[in-house]
Amino acid sequence: MTFELTEEQLAVREAARDFAQNILKPGVIDRDRDMKYPKEEVEQMKEMGFMGMMVDPKYGGGGMDTLSYVLAIEELSKVDSSASVIMSVNNSLVCWGLEAFGTEAQKQKYLTKLATGEWIGAFCLSEPEAGSDATSQRTTAIDMGDHYILNGTKNWITNGGTSDVHLVIAQSDVDKGHRGINVLIVETKWDGVAIGAKEDKLGIRASDTHSIMYTDVKVPKENRIGEDGFGFKFAMKTLAGGRIGIAAQALGIAGGAYELSLQYSKERKAFGKPISKHQAIAFKLADMATEIEAAKLLVYRSAWMKDQGMKYDRASAMAKVFASEVAMKTTTEAVQVHGGYGFVKEYHVERLMRDAKITQIYEGTSEIQRIVISRDVLKDNLYT
Ligand code: CAA
Repeated sequence: MTFELTEEQLAVREAARDFAQNILKPGVIDRDRDMKYPKEEVEQMKEMGFMGMMVDPKYGGGGMDTLSYVLAIEELSKVDSSASVIMSVNNSLVCWGLEAFGTEAQKQKYLTKLATGEWIGAFCLSEPEAGSDATSQRTTAIDMGDHYILNGTKNWITNGGTSDVHLVIAQSDVDKGHRGINVLIVETKWDGVAIGAKEDKLGIRASDTHSIMYTDVKVPKENRIGEDGFGFKFAMKTLAGGRIGIAAQALGIAGGAYELSLQYSKERKAFGKPISKHQAIAFKLADMATEIEAAKLLVYRSAWMKDQGMKYDRASAMAKVFASEVAMKTTTEAVQVHGGYGFVKEYHVERLMRDAKITQIYEGTSEIQRIVISRDVLKDNLYT
């Protein structure tokens, strides 16, 4: 067992940290207030190779391991989770799914553009009545021989207004239940695709979250990923990896709040000494540091397991549920450490607290992660 990062991983972390602190941080408060998409910043993320980090270089990706990707997401999320979720969805849910299960033609046509960030992707699973219960898809993809006709509405879609390509999960044969679900590659520019208004959210306010409506969209058969009926398994397998990205985001949010609390508590004086010298605050810092360290081990381990080719569904669900709870707790405590300053935007921790909440909701709520974990542990007689 080794806990040391490689030189490449350290370099990725350093580059991401520089970018987050020097490029993302200056405008992050304004973008959050104005719900302004980080357009120029995303352009730089593309140039840095952050949009397809794990994709094979032959398709234009960075060919990196999952841990490098986690380190990059973590550093960006210390400052700006709106930026990191754009990257996370493109990498984990779109590029990964296409690379793992797409045909060579699909990879040449779509993955090569998505991996470089020339195109941005969205993962369209959630619906007005199918969030946690992902098998209850109302969106339909009716088989017309050489194409499907797609109809329905998707909700809460990250990159919804800015993406060029959607991976759309839809029901083709309701009698077959989840085995009748397909996943189709849909281009935003096609007739019948309409984008709803941007959602006005509690957190990650600068990220681009929309509903998407599909009306009689003609999707060629060659744009289906996998065999007929593979769509639900595609979604589950893809989300298992996506959860590592969101766990890394939660870890970064917690880390950002902790670093700000450490700095502030050393500078702020009360009762004649820095507040960090008061046990009430010092113990909060101790708890934050301990819990972040525990979350880090779970998150990094799930990334490592994925890279080893091990089964990682349970590990990624554990990492996500734990790290997101640590993010919520740490950011709430960070506001408390900052006192009145923590309640105003200038000090960043109130935004981190708002951003933390979504990590307990998207890519499967904490309750869904517990379903995944409990089903898996109940198969074992012993914990291994
Ligand atoms: N890998 C492979 N197959 C899997 C799987 C996995 N990880 N998980 C489930 N399956 C398979 C099962 O084996 C089963 O197949 P068979 O019938 O052939 O055996 C099939 O899928 C159905 O599985 P379940 O019976 O377990 O399905 P379920 O309906 O009981 O529930 C669930 C499963 C875990 C609750 C699932 O619905 C789920 O994960 N829901 C949450 C969905 C989610 O994460 N949504 C987030 C939206 S995306 C998002 O947020 C992106 C964004 O914009 C940021």
